[in-house]
Amino acid sequence: MSTNPPKAPDVVKVSILGSDSIVLGFHLSDYIITDILTVAPSSTYVIITDTNIAPLYLPALIDHFNARFAENSDNNVKPPRLLTYVIPPGEVSKSRETKGQIEDYLLANTCTRDTCILALGGGVIGDLVGFVAATFMRGVPFVQIPSTLLAMVDSSIGGKTAIDTPHGKNLIGAFWQPKRIFIDLAFLQTLPEREFVNGMAEVIKTAAIWNVNDFVLLENGVDSIREAVLTKSATKPHQGRTLATRTVGQLLLLEVILASVRVKAHVVTHDERETGLRGLLNFGHSIGHAIEGIATPQVLHGECVAIGMIKEAEIARNLGYLNGVAVGRLLKVLQAYGLPVSLDDKRVKQLLGDKYCHVDAMMEIMKIDKKNRGDKKRVVMLSAIGKTLEERATFIADDVIRKILSPEMVVLPVTESPKGPTRNVTMSTPGSKSISNRALVLAALGTGTCRLKGLLHSDDTQYMLEALQKLGAAQFAWEDNGETLVVTGGGGNLRVPDTEIYVGNAGTASRFLTTVLTLVPTAEGSKRNATVLTGNARMQQRPIDDLLTALKANGAQIKSLNNEGFLPIAVTPIGGLKGGEINLSASISSQYVSSILMCAPYAQESVTLHLTGDEIISLPYIDLTIAMMESFGATIERLPQNTYRIARSTYKNPDVYFVESDASSATYPLAIAAITGTTCTISNIGASSLQGDAAFAVNVLRPMGCTVTQTATSTTVTGPPIGQLRPLPLVDMEKMTDAFMTAAVLAAVTSNPDGNENITRITGIANQRVKECNRIAAMVHELAKFGVTASELPKGIQIHGMAIQSLKAPAQGVHTYDDHRIAMSFSVLSTVVTNGTIIKDKKCVEKTWPTWWDDLEHRLGVQLRGIDLGPLHGDHEVIGDSKPAASGDSNATIVVIGMRGAGKTTMGQFAARALGLRFIDLDAHLEGELKTTIFDFINTWGWDRFRARESEFITSVLAPSSPFATGHVLACGGGIVETPSNRQRLKQYVQAGGKIIHLVRDFDHVERYLNKDKTRPMYGEDMRLVWNRRESWYRQCCNFEFVAYVESSGLDEEIAIDQWKLVERDLKRFLDFVVTEKKINDISQTASKPTTFVALTYPDIRAGVKELEAITEGADAVELRVDLLKAPEQEGPIPPLAYIGEQLAILRRYTSIPIVFTVRSKDQGGAFPANAESELFDLLSWGEKWGCEYVDVEIAWSSKMITELVAHKGNSKIIASWHDVRVETPWNGSLIVDKYKLAERYGDIIKLIGSAQSFESNLALEIFRTARKTSQIKPLIAMNMGSQGQLSRVLNDFLTPTTHPALPNKAAPGQLSLAEIHMARHLLGLLPAKTFYLFGTPIQHSFSPTLHNTGFKMLGLPHHYSLFQCSAIEYAEDIIRDPDFGGASVTIPHKVAVMKYMDEITVAARIIGAVNTVIVENASEADRSSTKRRLIGDNTDYLGIMNTIKPHIGTDVHQEALVVGAGGTSRAALYALHMLGVPTIYLYNRTTSKASSLIKEFEAHFSITLLETLEDAKVKPTIVVSTIPADNDIKWPESLFSGVSSGIACDLPYLPRRTSLLKAAESKGWKTVEGIQVLIEQGFWQFEKWTGKRAPKGKISSEVLAKIGL
Ligand SMILES: NC(=O)c1ccc[n+]([C@@H]2O[C@H](COP(=O)([O-])OP(=O)(O)OC[C@H]3O[C@@H](n4cnc5c(N)ncnc54)[C@H](O)[C@@H]3O)[C@@H](O)[C@H]2O)c1
Ligand SMILES: [Zn+2]
Repeated sequence: MSTNPPKAPDVVKVSILGSDSIVLGFHLSDYIITDILTVAPSSTYVIITDTNIAPLYLPALIDHFNARFAENSDNNVKPPRLLTYVIPPGEVSKSRETKGQIEDYLLANTCTRDTCILALGGGVIGDLVGFVAATFMRGVPFVQIPSTLLAMVDSSIGGKTAIDTPHGKNLIGAFWQPKRIFIDLAFLQTLPEREFVNGMAEVIKTAAIWNVNDFVLLENGVDSIREAVLTKSATKPHQGRTLATRTVGQLLLLEVILASVRVKAHVVTHDERETGLRGLLNFGHSIGHAIEGIATPQVLHGECVAIGMIKEAEIARNLGYLNGVAVGRLLKVLQAYGLPVSLDDKRVKQLLGDKYCHVDAMMEIMKIDKKNRGDKKRVVMLSAIGKTLEERATFIADDVIRKILSPEMVVLPVTESPKGPTRNVTMSTPGSKSISNRALVLAALGTGTCRLKGLLHSDDTQYMLEALQKLGAAQFAWEDNGETLVVTGGGGNLRVPDTEIYVGNAGTASRFLTTVLTLVPTAEGSKRNATVLTGNARMQQRPIDDLLTALKANGAQIKSLNNEGFLPIAVTPIGGLKGGEINLSASISSQYVSSILMCAPYAQESVTLHLTGDEIISLPYIDLTIAMMESFGATIERLPQNTYRIARSTYKNPDVYFVESDASSATYPLAIAAITGTTCTISNIGASSLQGDAAFAVNVLRPMGCTVTQTATSTTVTGPPIGQLRPLPLVDMEKMTDAFMTAAVLAAVTSNPDGNENITRITGIANQRVKECNRIAAMVHELAKFGVTASELPKGIQIHGMAIQSLKAPAQGVHTYDDHRIAMSFSVLSTVVTNGTIIKDKKCVEKTWPTWWDDLEHRLGVQLRGIDLGPLHGDHEVIGDSKPAASGDSNATIVVIGMRGAGKTTMGQFAARALGLRFIDLDAHLEGELKTTIFDFINTWGWDRFRARESEFITSVLAPSSPFATGHVLACGGGIVETPSNRQRLKQYVQAGGKIIHLVRDFDHVERYLNKDKTRPMYGEDMRLVWNRRESWYRQCCNFEFVAYVESSGLDEEIAIDQWKLVERDLKRFLDFVVTEKKINDISQTASKPTTFVALTYPDIRAGVKELEAITEGADAVELRVDLLKAPEQEGPIPPLAYIGEQLAILRRYTSIPIVFTVRSKDQGGAFPANAESELFDLLSWGEKWGCEYVDVEIAWSSKMITELVAHKGNSKIIASWHDVRVETPWNGSLIVDKYKLAERYGDIIKLIGSAQSFESNLALEIFRTARKTSQIKPLIAMNMGSQGQLSRVLNDFLTPTTHPALPNKAAPGQLSLAEIHMARHLLGLLPAKTFYLFGTPIQHSFSPTLHNTGFKMLGLPHHYSLFQCSAIEYAEDIIRDPDFGGASVTIPHKVAVMKYMDEITVAARIIGAVNTVIVENASEADRSSTKRRLIGDNTDYLGIMNTIKPHIGTDVHQEALVVGAGGTSRAALYALHMLGVPTIYLYNRTTSKASSLIKEFEAHFSITLLETLEDAKVKPTIVVSTIPADNDIKWPESLFSGVSSGIACDLPYLPRRTSLLKAAESKGWKTVEGIQVLIEQGFWQFEKWTGKRAPKGKISSEVLAKIGL
């Protein structure tokens, strides 16, 4: 029991609606009791709280209450009662049900009007209990005791109370003011961090709209505030209760919370019923709610609001109300408190999983707001930090909101804009980072006041500023809303800061500061005796040893705290920098030189700086530093041999210093002038600039035909009339590499009237291959999408100019590779391309120019439109992506090894295409280096010499710094493993986290293939001997192995194309799993949707391939019992690796579900030798290398082995199993709990198998299972062996092992089939029978009943599917409402009308405009009653089309599709093709107007091209889908099928089966997809969406075909 000290707490009171009823303080329990007894005297007090809070805070309140009356016990007055009621936590409790329960409780306890209710908890408790109080006995007094930050600053204040209904949140409620609001900040100590952060969103919001000072408090107080709340152990009991005991953090916390509380109280007092002012509190919420509507419950309210705030601030910025600096500040504060700021935030994406916040869906949600006006919505507009544009929310046009919310931007051509381009623009562009950082150092060290204008706002400059502040170097203040920084220099007086200096990943800041620190004279007056400079983990790996060496040699006392030559460093003051002679190696970085130069005037003696090293790097930057020092009054003498002499002096600050523009940024607006024939002046860069890119206008634009005038500080460009730019036959851009992309897009539209070649060649830009992406390849790829011919040169790019009118905007948009420069340069090109160009992933510009889109629109006069291509928009880009490893593992290089002839080139190239990497054949590459063929080299120099050379080569290629370290698929020569040193090198590569895949193929095939290929006479020895020698070497050196399974094709050496297609499909699946993150093994555990895997028992899987499809029907995974395998001529008990690998490959070929790799030993009920632990683990590790989705391991083995296995699991999941073979761990004992814990430690999945001694063992198991439920994090498989244990197999709900009648034998006694389990669950009442229907007319001939009823029967499901013919959907209303209704198929004429009954319509159904599938979803899994269900309208028509076409497409992305017909089905076809990623889609319909209006409807989602006649010979589709009736009289012109030799034709009518279209296409060698296939396929999807089980496809298909006589 915790009693409070006698001393009264210090509290603050805030007035609301005329009385001081809000009380804030720390540790207020006793105060609260005393206070309520006086303000709300009642006969009964009821505290209502939730189960999380009750144990924490209820006892103290009860104790204090009892103590009060114990004191006065002899009083004659009857003491009041105290009742408590505890409900489950969470939003689910804000319901009518819980409200009813509380009311029943109050009534049962004879509570009357003389009752006071206390709401102790978060917003859920406050809203719910407030509403109970509002209506109980027509209203009783209540008190708010908020326990979450959100409740303290928001929900407890204002009197809004409410509950949720299935129709939406807060729909029923009342305004009911609490008597008191007690805000006890000590409660925050127990609040989970994420809830605290969630509440901070509202605190930040309030400061942002109301008071800049409060905002500054939040900006500066991040660490103390977080610490005051989140460091659980630091506080003493009752700390903060009185002023005397309050920590600095607590004071600050109180201050910021108080600020929020005051604003809310003020607003409520002046606008209690929410008419205008209160709407301001909605900042961030208009968009926040739209996000929440989709993202709840995964993303919390405050998190959605944080993203909403940024988006709403960006709207204000776009409209010119708010400047970019303010948006940056908001962004920074939100991030600092741990809030997300974008839907692309990694954590938000993780939380969202498959959900996607599509802009259309968000706009749809925002539509519902009552406060909208026409196509305008109300959004709060900030005009500065702490200010809003109006005293209420402002009406904002929909297209502005859409533009800001959209991930993609459509740039419209200026030529088609009603206003035309802005003819004469003057603007400044973002400041240069290098100059900003130098200016900061110089002005801080100088004397006098300097106004820095045009400073770049970036992380780098921010860290620099913070560091200089900590060092006390100068005074800083902002003017003009943050546009100008006023620096009052400290003249070089520096101190040792009390805390360490942190510079994140800011390289420039860290280097410049290193020397600055040596200027600190003493540590006097500081808590530390040395200055510590540190950075983030990446920064700590970037060497600075040359700089440190030079400074140390000059006497500076610098110590590297972790690794010599790296951050963090500690600099001990020794009276300042000594000066005199300093030698510095300058071949690594010019920043070292600049660092010393800038500090040199402050050394005790004048400095003579000698630069040593082979080559002085980046001289222009050294010149820049010197020039800037001179403008701050320093004198630098340049002596011969890279020597500089710097006299002692103090910088004299100029009154104003204009930071020059970043020269690369300036190229974009100038290029727009050039391409659009307008004039643009950039006012902050000119001829005096030392930045290389500043010469762009003169050296590139002028020769291209522009008029260029430059002053020292400004540049003006006027372009020739549109279309008259001239090509540059050869331009060296080595001094301005970053500007080459700007030049490249201009080069695309040049013309050359003299008839000379119209080609621009840019060289000297090889370094651009290793920037954000391989920029040269990316430009070639993206330009090609416009129809522009471009190619890579060894050190550059070559571009053929073309007529602007012939440029074609790519339908799928420009891929930007997360590279700001690609986005900006293609924006330039897009200003003249007709129809509008989509620039994908628009936010990538934020790196250097956050307001690029605003400026493009409002300053340069280019019209923009927002668009959202959906979650898959980036999936089809393959070339040019080569981001550094840090930006995503799937971009890491993959090394491929294997025998010559195994298919390394074919499969390697395929892998590269599939993963978006570049393929390199290392042998070819090596030949390039040797300048001869390997064959000749060996003939001349011999094998030893060759192997040595090869070894050197491989070491350099695999080095972390090699250009091949990311973004490549590297195929090694077959002999790479011959030398021990190479093998060693490969192993190291794997150990360092690299991926090496061994490709294998049946050796007989390889041998036949090699015998045939006479161009490769390399092997002097027998190939089989070579293979035998190398096989184990390959396996030692790889961490993955892919077995290419090629069905034995007799003696044909050639592998048929179709066979390769299958191998490619298998390889794609393998890569998806081991390389990318497309995991198919995160099956979740849900009691109402049990999952199963079927256990195979074949000694050779070949025996069962025919039945595999049937055996795996409905299963969620398939188990390969490796211990049961037996190779044909196997010696000994363990099958060879090659055999097992092939078995797996065969299994993969015939089924796409996840594979469980299990090796069960004899003593655990299997067949593997019991005493062969290391052999067993070796096999298991191969399970991982083969990319098995699950690997099962017994926890009885030694922990060392298991730990090792777990460490290398990659994306595989470990099933940690316990089999109680010796009957030693009964379910009701403590030993089984130990096993559970052990399995939990090793496994991703826990599997416990008991042995049923009697039927009762099953009951004990269920008690065990239920007991785990509350705390269980990992999925649990728990069952009993033997037939006695069958019940437990029925009740187990996660990956229950099953058998199948078609299997030769069961894997374990007692195993049931899936159908048996379903039947048993039905009998037990766990699987109620549902009825499904087809709604429509006429439907009597439908095969859907056959389809679904066959499926139900095969899987033992008790459901039934019937026809319900009706002319109006209203007749089906009773059916839809029936509790036994399981779902429906919907066909004409109801596909639209049925929507009104739906609670949700999927994006697909919405875009297609039709629902063909009704899915019933139970709102809560625990609740099996039919009342809480939701109806979801979906569309599977498009899935049918998409998934029947998909297998024929392969990886070729250059598809063009034609859809014929403009009815309902064609809508599904169009959407299917769009989802397949087909970039160009044509639509033909006999009545052209119908097609045009359909195209219009889809316009917002994707573009479709109208085809007027099928005879149009220019159109050469690769896919044709017809949706018109089979009895049409269309003549399919031959030209339609002449574009490719293997196109795909799909005809949706299915009688006759072979339609005229299919026949015509087939005669041209095309693949065909029959209508019946599509219809059956869409039915499978329906079945799966209803039952959660994979449909038994084979049996269903044959029944359906039989039924309709095909
Ligand atoms: N009435 C209004 O004006 C208003 C305003 C904003 C939000 N709301 C409502 O507030 C609700 C959200 O409130 P919330 O964010 O406080 O969520 P909440 O009430 O669900 O609390 C969050 C979680 O924290 C736990 N918790 C609360 N205090 C704790 C403490 N001190 N220590 C440990 N755990 C603690 C709770 O048990 C719960 O699990 C929503 O229903 C929302 O609609 C109402
Ligand atoms: Zn809110």
